[in-house]
Amino acid sequence: MVEQSRAQIAQLIHAQPEEIYFTSGGTEGDNWIIKGTAMAKRQFGKHLITTQIEHPAVRNSMAQLEKLGFDVTYLPVDSRGFVSVDDVRAAIRPDTIMVSVMAVNNEVGSIQPIDQIGDLLQDYPTIHYHVDAVQSVGKGVLAKIRHPRIDFLTFSGHKFHAPRGTGFIFAKAGRMIDH
Ligand SMILES: Cc1ncc(COP(=O)(O)O)c(C=O)c1O
Repeated sequence: MVEQSRAQIAQLIHAQPEEIYFTSGGTEGDNWIIKGTAMAKRQFGKHLITTQIEHPAVRNSMAQLEKLGFDVTYLPVDSRGFVSVDDVRAAIRPDTIMVSVMAVNNEVGSIQPIDQIGDLLQDYPTIHYHVDAVQSVGKGVLAKIRHPRIDFLTFSGHKFHAPRGTGFIFAKAGRMIDH
């Protein structure tokens, strides 16, 4: 059943089955991707970029990395809850290893320009691009969250009627991440 589920998920999000990893939910997925990237890429840089409106699963992962000596830029959003692609561009540094932006905000529902950020990051192939897609299922944003530049996606089962304590991540084949 696990392999059947993996194949079904892969088909639904147009990924390969070996790019799907099961987790206990969104919190574990976000923690794994963010800290796993930081640890795997720390010899290349210690700077991460995210937004001020991420879920605590992302925010607290970033805060923990700051205690370990990483440097995190928290981008603001406008009055309607949208992050600006220009702000992402301006925040990128030679030592940036990750950009993490949620797809759909869990409080106000703003859908972030994650595809445009993906276009921007085509020029920065060494930066890991993570999208917390926990609130994106059933919102008609599949094309956005499957932008080819996105390296990691987080999903949580209980947001779409699966049992609590289930979830999965998409990790693009070949991306460095510590386990
Ligand atoms: C955007 C977002 N990310 C992560 C999470 C955490 O997911 P979970 O409850 O499966 O740990 C949530 C949960 O509400 C969420 O809304």
